[in-house]
Amino acid sequence: MFAFEIPAPRKIGDYSYCKTLSSHAGMNTTGVNQYNSKFVARSLAKKVYQRSTRHCVSIQRSSRSKMVSEEEVNYEIGQRIETQEDAAVFIKAETEKGTILSERGYGACKPPFSYWPYFLRCANRPFDATNDREGYINLAVAQNFLAKQDVQDKVKEICKNNENDALIFGLEAAGYDNMKGIERLRKAFRNHANRIISPNFAWHEDDVCVSSGVGACIDNLVFAIADSNDFILIPAPYYPAFTNDLGVRCRVRAVPVYNSSGDVTVLPSLEDFKRAEENAVGEGEGMCRALLLTNPNNPLGIIYEPGDYRRCVDWALERQIHCISDEVYAGSIYDSEMNAKTRGFISAAELVEEHTPYGPHILTGLSKDFCASGYRVGAILTKSKPVQTALSNVSYFCAVPGPFQHVIAAMLEDEVWVDELFSMNRTRLKQSRDVLVASLNEKKIPHIVPNAGLFIWIDLSNELKEQTFEEEKKLWKILFEETHLMLTPGKDAKNKKPGTFRACFAATPFESLKVAIERISTGLEMYRNL
Ligand SMILES: Cc1ncc(COP(=O)(O)O)c(C=O)c1O
Repeated sequence: MFAFEIPAPRKIGDYSYCKTLSSHAGMNTTGVNQYNSKFVARSLAKKVYQRSTRHCVSIQRSSRSKMVSEEEVNYEIGQRIETQEDAAVFIKAETEKGTILSERGYGACKPPFSYWPYFLRCANRPFDATNDREGYINLAVAQNFLAKQDVQDKVKEICKNNENDALIFGLEAAGYDNMKGIERLRKAFRNHANRIISPNFAWHEDDVCVSSGVGACIDNLVFAIADSNDFILIPAPYYPAFTNDLGVRCRVRAVPVYNSSGDVTVLPSLEDFKRAEENAVGEGEGMCRALLLTNPNNPLGIIYEPGDYRRCVDWALERQIHCISDEVYAGSIYDSEMNAKTRGFISAAELVEEHTPYGPHILTGLSKDFCASGYRVGAILTKSKPVQTALSNVSYFCAVPGPFQHVIAAMLEDEVWVDELFSMNRTRLKQSRDVLVASLNEKKIPHIVPNAGLFIWIDLSNELKEQTFEEEKKLWKILFEETHLMLTPGKDAKNKKPGTFRACFAATPFESLKVAIERISTGLEMYRNL
């Protein structure tokens, strides 16, 4: 933990300082003038000191202080990393002062992933096959660039062809509308879901709530179903940002659940869920509010076997905790025949016999399947009336801009185009996957062969000198610093076994993938010779 020392006030006689102090002390400055400010400032300084000390003690005591502990901000302060580094310094400095931000605010200063600060170094010097072969290859970012240009072209075309459409660019689109999304867009998402995500289930436009990205959808949904200190069970390994998505605003805990068999491609048993829940109840005050599943899965790049998935969804609904099914990769399945165990993807919407107020709540969006993470468009599909009602309120804070909602609706309405895009996207994902898998096989690097999404899960645990996350980090650092390759460490995905890494193969140029695997090989050699 940080040391909580409050610096003694220096500019005691200063009138403006007096004003600052008064706001910290929660007092107003009525009656303070340049003649009495010195006297007032002294007593205020005392109050601020007492208040800050109380605040710091409460931070130290609070279990939530874990969110700003130095141990968890596990990267080097002092490194030049733009705002996140500043944030780290800021956390340290401001936690010591302890009064400028709320506890939540200090929590928000913490980067969402341990490897966040390294992104900028990758961005500043990207790999270039002709001009800079030493440049960084970033396989840690969960983006799909493989059909990005095609989507951009479509948006451009829609804007151009509809330049005079008053609905899109007229005054109507500039006014307030339904914060869950304009009717046209909700209908377009309804049709998209009924066609692509769950063709055997009928959604209605009232079941759709559109927000600025799936991250915002999760934040809203969690806000609606859980109170601070409550927790949500998530089979691990899981999408690393879930911890932040649940915690940063809503202060809800993400509790990883491990399959006791050790097989990450199979969901945990009901006993595993129960055990994780009991432990989480023992660790904090809150209660279990939901089960959060992701299918197709990030980080594994696999589709869960439908019976396995149904077992978990049913369990949650039977015991009346919410079931959230993140299906943001449902349009990026490129090899459903491949795995004998899976019959392909089936949405949780189709797996349950009956939709309940507890869900399932399905998440979808444009970031992955439409290669458009910057558009910030996501949607919750739910039949739960209480959840829909709560979302009508909180969606206001993260609505998608009106004119852009029309543009996106027009894009989704062109179903022929969507089908072509998805088909092209799948072909390209498969090509990239094949290149990676062939290179990994050649180097005898263990991995799970993926069939959906943007990722491959690489298992270097056999190489670790000890089965610890310190060793995982050592290896990660060698890969980053010595070979200029960035992977997502398994620890961030809350994997139980040290030494696993996620690689995203859809956001880097094709030709860099083989080089990336060469670098893993080189990095391993360096690690072995340490
Ligand atoms: C499983 C999963 N859910 C949600 C998100 C967030 O999506 P968005 O960019 O729409 O906020 C991601 C992004 O990586 C993801 O992988």
